[in-house]
This record gives sequence, C-alpha cells and structure tokens, in this order.
Amino acid sequence: MSVNSRVQKSNNDSQNPKMLQGIRACANRAFILEPYISSLQLIANYTSAKPAENVQNLPRLPVPKLDDTLNKYLKTVRPFLNDEEFTATSKLIKEFGSEGGVGRKLQNLLEKRAEKHLNWLEEWWLNTAYLEYRDPVVVFSSPGLVFPFRKFNSQHDQLKYAAATLLAALDYKALIDGNKIPTEMMGKNPLDMTQYKKIFGTCRIPWEKRDKLSFNDSTHVTVIHNNHIFSLDLWGEDKKRLSEDQIIEALKKIIKQSDKHNNQGIGILTSENRDTWAKAYQLISKDENNRRGLRDVESSVAVLCLDAGAGLWAAPDAARRSLAAAHTIHGAGAKANGGNRWFDKTVQFIVGADGITGLTYEHSPAEGQPIAVLTDFIINYIDQNKSSTEPTSSRPKDPVRLDFNVSNEVADMIKTAEVNLDKLVANLELNCFKFERFGKNFIKSHKMSPDSFLQMAMQYAFYRLHKTPGAHYESAATRMFVGGRTETIRSCSIESIEFAKAMLDGQSSPKTKLASMKKAINAHKDYTVQALQGLGVDRHLLGLKLTALENGIQIPKLYQDPGYVRSAHMRISTSQVACKCDGFMCYGPLVADGYATCYNPRDNDVNFATSAFVAHRDTACAHYRAALEHALQDMHDVLVNTTPSKL
Ligand code: COA
Repeated sequence: MSVNSRVQKSNNDSQNPKMLQGIRACANRAFILEPYISSLQLIANYTSAKPAENVQNLPRLPVPKLDDTLNKYLKTVRPFLNDEEFTATSKLIKEFGSEGGVGRKLQNLLEKRAEKHLNWLEEWWLNTAYLEYRDPVVVFSSPGLVFPFRKFNSQHDQLKYAAATLLAALDYKALIDGNKIPTEMMGKNPLDMTQYKKIFGTCRIPWEKRDKLSFNDSTHVTVIHNNHIFSLDLWGEDKKRLSEDQIIEALKKIIKQSDKHNNQGIGILTSENRDTWAKAYQLISKDENNRRGLRDVESSVAVLCLDAGAGLWAAPDAARRSLAAAHTIHGAGAKANGGNRWFDKTVQFIVGADGITGLTYEHSPAEGQPIAVLTDFIINYIDQNKSSTEPTSSRPKDPVRLDFNVSNEVADMIKTAEVNLDKLVANLELNCFKFERFGKNFIKSHKMSPDSFLQMAMQYAFYRLHKTPGAHYESAATRMFVGGRTETIRSCSIESIEFAKAMLDGQSSPKTKLASMKKAINAHKDYTVQALQGLGVDRHLLGLKLTALENGIQIPKLYQDPGYVRSAHMRISTSQVACKCDGFMCYGPLVADGYATCYNPRDNDVNFATSAFVAHRDTACAHYRAALEHALQDMHDVLVNTTPSKL
C-alpha cells in the first residue's frame, strides 16, 4: 500500500543513524512461543525483520543505475515545477549524479549493501514504512477489506457465518503450511510467496521507537465480543478440528460471558499512537496474568471480532458500502465496534450482527494481494457450504476469557484512547461505490491496459477538481524478486496532465482527446513495467537516503528540493487490490489534503473505495467520487465516439 510519505516522515523522525543498524533477525519462521512466558525479556526478543530465505531461487532486487533513476526522476517532477524551479532542480540533480558527486558515493555504498543482502531493501522497508512509523495503524496504515454483504436474520446466522469463516481460514492455513498454494505468476515469472506465510499467527508488538513482529504457530484463535477478549482452541485433544456446530456452541458460550457494560476494553489501546500504546503495553505487562493474556492474543492464529449491529439494512443502499468500510477500517468509534478489536493482529475477521463481514489487516507483514486471495478462498468456501468437517471426538475445550488487571493509569489511557479513536473516526470521510457502467472487458476491447486507464481517470478527476497536478502513488508488486514488496508507480506525468487538459478543453476534438489519452495511458504503462522490475524512482531514492543516514553522511539537498517534496506529497494514494468476489479493500489518505482510492476492477464493473480527511477544506470525498465517475464516463465516450465507424 501507499506509504511513501509515511516513509519520509519516519525518516525525518529517526535522525539517529544507529536506529537503522543492529536489527535482530529471526531466520526461522516457526518461532513458536512458549504458552506462558514470565519474562519481558522474551518480548524484547521479538524480531523486527524476517529476512528472505531464497527457497524459490528468485532473482535479487536490482539497484537501478543512478543515471537512469535521475533521468526518470526529472521527468516525474516536471509537472510540479515552473521553468525556473525546474532549471534549479535539474542543476541539483546534475551535481548529485556527477563524477565525485554525493550521489555516486551513495550509489557505490548501496551496491555494496546489495551484494550482502538477498534483498537490499526488505529490512529497511519493513522498519521505515511500518515498524518505526508512530501514528496509529488505524486509518494511517491498516486497510479494511469488505466482503459481500450477508443478511443475518438471527444470532445463529451470524455465528454460523463466523464459524465457517474460521474453518475456511484454517483450511487456507493448512494449504499455506503445506506449501500447496499455487505459485503466482507475472507473465512467465514466478512471484515470491513468502508473504502468505506471514498472514496467520503474526502480531505486531508495540515498542518505543520501533515495533516488533512475532511469528507463531498455534491452534487457537482470539475472539472478541463486546470488547471482551477470549481464547478459543479450535482443535480437540484428538488433534481433530472442531466442527462448525462445535464452534457455534463455543461462540454462544463466549456471548453469554460478554456483558456489554462490564468490560475492560483494553483492545482499544491498539488503536493508539504507537509510542503511547507501547507505554501502556509495558504497564500492562508488569502483571504476570496480563502477560499471559497478551501472549495468548499475540500467538493466536487470527482474531475473530463478533461485532454489534451497525444498522446496515436500515441505511440507504448507497451508504452501505461506506458504512461497512468504516467498520472494517476503524470499527466506527469507541461506542460502536472500535474497542472490539486487536489492531496489532495481522488478520482480524469481522462478522457483524446484521451482516457486515470482512477483515482488518495490519499491513507490516504482507501486501493486500495475498489477503485478497484469502478473501476469495473464504467466500468460495462459504458459498459452497463446505464447512462441515468430522468433529473432534474429544470434548472441545471451553473458551477462556482473558481478564486483564487494569491499573488506574492504564484505565485513564483507555479513556484517552477512546477519545482519540473517535477523533480519527470523525475525521475520515469514506465514499465507496460500485461503478457499473463498464469494467476491464470494455477497456481491453479497446486494446488498453485497464489499470493504466483507471489510473488516468483518477489523474483527470483530480485535475478537473483542483486544477493542479496531483502527485499520485500507485503500488506495483516487486514480488518477482526474493523478499520483494512494492515499488511506487508515479502516475502523475507530463502526459497525464496534458491529457487532463485536453479532456477539459472545450475546443479539443474527440480525436485529439483520444490521442492524448493513449499517450498518457502508454506513459503510465511504461512506468508500471519498470516499477514491476524494481526500476522505479522512489525505492532507489529511499535506499540512497538511508545509505547516507547509515553512514553518517549528510542528507543530500535533493531531499529538501521542491521537486522532491512536491512530487512525493502523494495527494492521490491508490492501490489495485483485485479479488473475484464483490468485495473491496479500503484505507485512509496518505496526506492531510489527499484522497485514497483502492479499487477492484472486475470484468464488467469496478469497486472503488475512496476516502479523504474531513478536516481539510480542499478535499471532499463526494466531489472526488463525482469527478471520478465523470472522468470514467468521458473516457468511455471518447473511446466509443472515436471507433472507426463513428469517425
Ligand atoms: N490490450 C488488451 N488487454 C490488455 C492490455 C491491452 N493493451 N493491457 C493489459 N491488458 C490485459 C492484461 O493482459 C490483463 O489480462 P488478464 O486479466 O487476462 O490477466 C488485464 O488486461 C489487466 O492488466 P493491467 O490492467 O494492464 O494490469 P494488471 O492487472 O497487471 O495490474 C498492477 C497492474 C501494477 C496493479 C499489478 O501488476 C500489481 O503490481 N498489482 C499489485 C499491486 C499491489 O501490490 N496492491 C496491494 C498493495 S497493499
């Protein structure tokens, strides 16, 4: 997902080069925790990074050539600079890349690093993009994923769905553990599959300055209802899984023990600023019983949130998607389901009483695509009613409520966390919708890349609204390389702005519009192809900057230059997360005056999730959505009106 600006912010915060050194690595995935740990020391030993082990024999992420990156970079900053500024930036870049320039020195050091690491970026990226980032994971980092709506007519319906979700997840986990997930391909190239291994049993641990990750293999899940937290073992002593009916029974017991008005609600602390939560975590961990509770949650396979109803079916049709998105991103506030979460857990399944279903995922271990594949698996599993398995013959263990001893100090922190979450919730505007006029098939029939077409629609929409170029982040997967995650596609280009201008020019003919549309789409596609090969601008420039930090070299002026600052202020933060089912992923904007757009392009429609911050007067989600729909329709009309029979 789009994290460029977060990386920048995080780098600015961490001036101490030593912070980038000495990272402990845990080479073995099966980092199984003892069930009861009495020492904080072990928590301190959680790993920050989990380096690639090249089992698939994939190529290594390249370090792009310096000149190539600098030339590309100059092209991408052009829309944000006037002639004078551009001359100054060009001069700066020339010096940076000249023989004897600091860029050359940094490049040499970076190339040396790349010789020593299977993936020169992996550890840096995990730390700077995620673990050192101090804002809450809620809204700022963790996406929600909304599953197709369900209509639950009773609590039994809700629990049956929840049980089936858990069984589907266990089936999927078994496929992952048995290395049975088919290797994904990009053309002829296999993709790195290690992210799949990090979906289940993983938890982020709050820690001052830099969080940690714990990887576990266990048989229990965490269930949260009315903010009460339970441990539920899904396996009997005979090593057989519980059946759907047995899980439903266990969930009923959980509901019985979850008094609405009498809970400690420590889960809401996971929505806090990371340093604040780290402080609370240390306080909570002073108590041995609490440490056991924390360990239990952190080591579980995943979390199941049995949410209170959200008024889904009473809401107008058009508002339902946004309502569901809100519940998956932040739980709609402290008084709704915001405390019914453990946001540090990689996967939290959400099953609401009246049919909002989906998940929230903590982004640090994996990108959205493996989570989208998991989603399709779960939906198929449930739709095909696969969920009855041979029940365990031993008596299932009763769920265990994890009661925490909460000091007055922590109780105060919980109250503050509630207020802070409510502020976040109030500031996030969501507008999620299905665009039904056409999907990928129509675009392909005009011999265009659907992704580039949609990206250019967003560029046009932004320019239409704001009359200024919008720096635009799109994630491209670099999983062709061992340990690869993403590169940024800088979608705002000289061509995208010319295209937007042509579309808005009442004098330009359909033919001219078509020509500029094709040019913009091709430019985007070219950048995409390079980004997928690890040859974008952003990760390389980040690598050079971190090299400077690590080696005590002054950060070059390039990073304060208006060209860099403006082109990296990503006002449009986007990601394609494709799933076959009628679901969609959603998340918050990257910058205060920005929009987020996550989209799921399907054959004949596109699911869009857009968001903006209420507090910024320049952005309004409803206007952005209208501009986007308008842009898509205009582009469609240009294509239809310029087909040979119409000319
Ligand atoms: N004419 C006809 N068809 C075309 C075409 C053209 N000119 N260009 C592309 N197509 C087809 C493709 O062959 C493909 O066909 P398929 O559906 O049969 O596979 C389809 O259109 C889609 O291709 P396109 O839209 O160009 O790109 P993409 O779907 O490969 O997506 C990225 C591009 C960058 C989004 C993708 O490569 C990627 O990296 N995805 C991961 C992003 C990510 O990490 N998201 C999560 C972040 S949390």
